[in-house]
Amino acid sequence: MNYFDTIKDANQKQTDLLIKDDIIKELNLINKSISKFIELKIFNSIESTNESLRHDLTNSLVQIDDKVIIYTAEHQTQGKGRGKNKKWESPYGENLYISFAWKVPPVMLKKISSLSIKLSQIIIELLLDYKLSNINLKWPNDIYVNNKKISGILIDIVKLNNDEYVLISGIGLNVNMTENEILQNTSIKSALRLNNNLNRTLVLTNLIEKVVAVCSKNNYSIDFIKLKEYNILNYNKAIDKSIKLIINNKEYIAKYLNITSHGALEVLIDGEIKKIYSVDKLIL
Ligand code: BTN
Repeated sequence: MNYFDTIKDANQKQTDLLIKDDIIKELNLINKSISKFIELKIFNSIESTNESLRHDLTNSLVQIDDKVIIYTAEHQTQGKGRGKNKKWESPYGENLYISFAWKVPPVMLKKISSLSIKLSQIIIELLLDYKLSNINLKWPNDIYVNNKKISGILIDIVKLNNDEYVLISGIGLNVNMTENEILQNTSIKSALRLNNNLNRTLVLTNLIEKVVAVCSKNNYSIDFIKLKEYNILNYNKAIDKSIKLIINNKEYIAKYLNITSHGALEVLIDGEIKKIYSVDKLIL
């Protein structure tokens, strides 16, 4: 199916859709108590799972309490990517588009960079479970397989009326989509050159279980040793080399030093050590 298929086309192709009862059943098999901590909603077609969650939370249409609210959709009409006006291609019934929302104490807002690397680590481990190789993490949270994008993460912060903060972590993971040369992206199915579709329910439950374990404990500590072991934090190769950073349309030449335990990029610019938390572009 290509990006321009309509929902009707997809239905005619009898795509296997996500069913809440099946997902809860699978989740209970992995972790008996997990369904007490989550509230899961599955949408057929929605603007964006991140934006709908933001809307429902700020308009008190959903009660978060101490739960993790999860929105997932078969299709997004305006899937949001990172960066201005960036769209996330969301063909119907083929991939996973999912957002997790949970309350955090204000001090956790400083740890968003660690969270995004932690989520990347979860996705990378999931891809490794599917025996994918040639995986790359483009700091901090773009995941590539064979130099084509397979997954992206978008974290939004919402301040509720009662001054409490909620983090919304949106994950797009391409599962069964056909590779698109123009967009330079791939999916698990395409990268593995499979003829049959993967069972999205299993990929999704795996992902939910791992992400909920992280957000319910607010533990975003990154296992750098493991990341280095996988040799996927490809910026390791760049240590002490010159890199080019583009931040707010300005270009900087820097020496790459390290990635800190908080997920910042530590660089030397004009003789000064700086910690950078996000860049528009990083050229090695
Ligand atoms: C990126 O540009 O790399 C981030 C992409 C994030 C896409 C996901 S899909 C689920 C959630 N809803 C959205 O609108 N965006 C995120």
